[in-house]
Amino acid sequence: MTDQAQLHQQLLDRMTANGSLRTEPWKRAAAAVPRHEFLRGGFFRRAVGTDFTGWESVREGDAGWLEGCYADESLVTQIAATIVPEDIRGRILREPTSSSTLPSLVLRMLEDLQVEDGHRVLEIGTGTGYSTAVLCARLGAGNVTSIEYDSRVASRARAALGHLGTYPDLVTGDGLVGHCAGAPYDRVIATCGVRAVPPAWVEQTRTGGLILATICGWLGSSELARLTVHKDGTASGPLLGGAVSFMLARPHQPPPLGLLPDLDEGKERETGTGADVLNNWTSRFVAQLAVPGAQRLTIQRNGRSEDVLVDVETGSWAAVYQDGGRWVVRQDGPEALWDHVEEQFGRWCAAGAPTLEEFTVTVTPEGQTISW
Ligand SMILES: C[S@@+](CC[C@H](N)C(=O)[O-])C[C@H]1O[C@@H](n2cnc3c(N)ncnc32)[C@H](O)[C@@H]1O
Repeated sequence: MTDQAQLHQQLLDRMTANGSLRTEPWKRAAAAVPRHEFLRGGFFRRAVGTDFTGWESVREGDAGWLEGCYADESLVTQIAATIVPEDIRGRILREPTSSSTLPSLVLRMLEDLQVEDGHRVLEIGTGTGYSTAVLCARLGAGNVTSIEYDSRVASRARAALGHLGTYPDLVTGDGLVGHCAGAPYDRVIATCGVRAVPPAWVEQTRTGGLILATICGWLGSSELARLTVHKDGTASGPLLGGAVSFMLARPHQPPPLGLLPDLDEGKERETGTGADVLNNWTSRFVAQLAVPGAQRLTIQRNGRSEDVLVDVETGSWAAVYQDGGRWVVRQDGPEALWDHVEEQFGRWCAAGAPTLEEFTVTVTPEGQTISW
């Protein structure tokens, strides 16, 4: 066995042992797709230094490249929407914009998609093309459509897939509008996060079909949802759990914060809901539902740490800090952001603090609601 074949087999064994790879057809599909073929352009590795923490590139042939390709890790392949590994010597500190998702999450999601032979699937977020290739190995390339927003990422994926002789329908554009020409689909799967499932995905999925997508928000909590499309044109279903997170679909990225408001202004009062609700994955998800337009930053001022929520669109803000044993909020703007968080958090606690798996997502032509 070559090193590559051995590393690939170890990855398959690990994914089977940890329960992400569960059924024979997906085991065969995962075995048929060599991940390193989708990472020939290299990847970025997080580099923690004493002076500067950032991303450094690992190119094909570098020490650790092949092992990295078969590690069960997400590998960043593009930064700041333009920079690829071959562009960088040294380190860079900017936001990742494309990656190869960790294989166990790819396979867990494909298993959760509950496909059957002959199903037609729309994937949003082609990325390197790895997950697209696994889908093609399972269903046949003729049944797979994949959309990638970034044209350079899309052309690299097209080349990698073509190199393996795999020719799905690859579309470059905004996957949030789906791809009407191929509709209706039996399944829709998104490998980028969304703030809300777009109505277009529901319209383009047949009745009884499934949509699998990660619902994210600007406070940084997220979860995978599986929705069933109903004949009245709505879709609903549970969150599946596992604290799944993805980079947000590009049109769903938060706006720049710009100049901060004057944080000395505003009305101050005591609050029974501390900023620590923002540190727990589930309660942060709950808070995020209450203030979907808010972004969080933690700043040091007046000799203490303040958690600040800013809603750029409305200009509303809330700063929450601890003063001895009590929590204090100061807020201003048309929306009393922390009042919304308090109200939502209180309702969730009164319901017995249900887990995210007990939440239901509903999508209608008017938009998305999440309830518990
Ligand atoms: C986590 S990566 C996808 C990983 C990929 N499935 C793989 O196996 O390599 C997310 C991708 O979604 C793409 N993306 C972001 N917003 C998108 C949108 N609105 N439509 C289509 N693709 C989008 C990004 O450019 C990025 O390449």
